[in-house]
Amino acid sequence: MDRREFLTWMGVGGIATYLPVALVACSPKEPKTESPSHPVNSAGFKSVGKVADLDKNGQILDKEFPGGAVLVVRNQDSQGAIAAVNPSCPHAGCIVAWKAEQKEFVCPCHDSKFAIDGKVVQGPAKKPLPIYEAKLEGDSILVKGSKI
Ligand code: FES
Repeated sequence: MDRREFLTWMGVGGIATYLPVALVACSPKEPKTESPSHPVNSAGFKSVGKVADLDKNGQILDKEFPGGAVLVVRNQDSQGAIAAVNPSCPHAGCIVAWKAEQKEFVCPCHDSKFAIDGKVVQGPAKKPLPIYEAKLEGDSILVKGSKI
């Protein structure tokens, strides 16, 4: 066996040895259908926090919510009700904050303002904030994954 044949056999042997390992490493992973921190109930709602934390902080921002961040606030015009929006500003993607005294979501980047139902109150944003279906169940705040 000359040097060239030896190197050819070594190359084939190397591929045969490492190919299964490479295929396993590159194979797609099973998509996560549920995050352990977001248990899903039978109606498709996911828990994003506790009512006590919402009342204490005035808002709950969950950046890890499956499918996009969610910001939950109390709707002061409707006793006990809550609102949940995707807080990514449609103008350029900054995260809006809830200003309870104004009853508006305000973008810190270019001052767009949105009503509690996500509608644009002041530009430059032209599109509303996507909203989620949300409800309270016991001490849990539940949000449905699909945006309305
Ligand atoms: S990113 Fe929100 S107004 Fe520009």
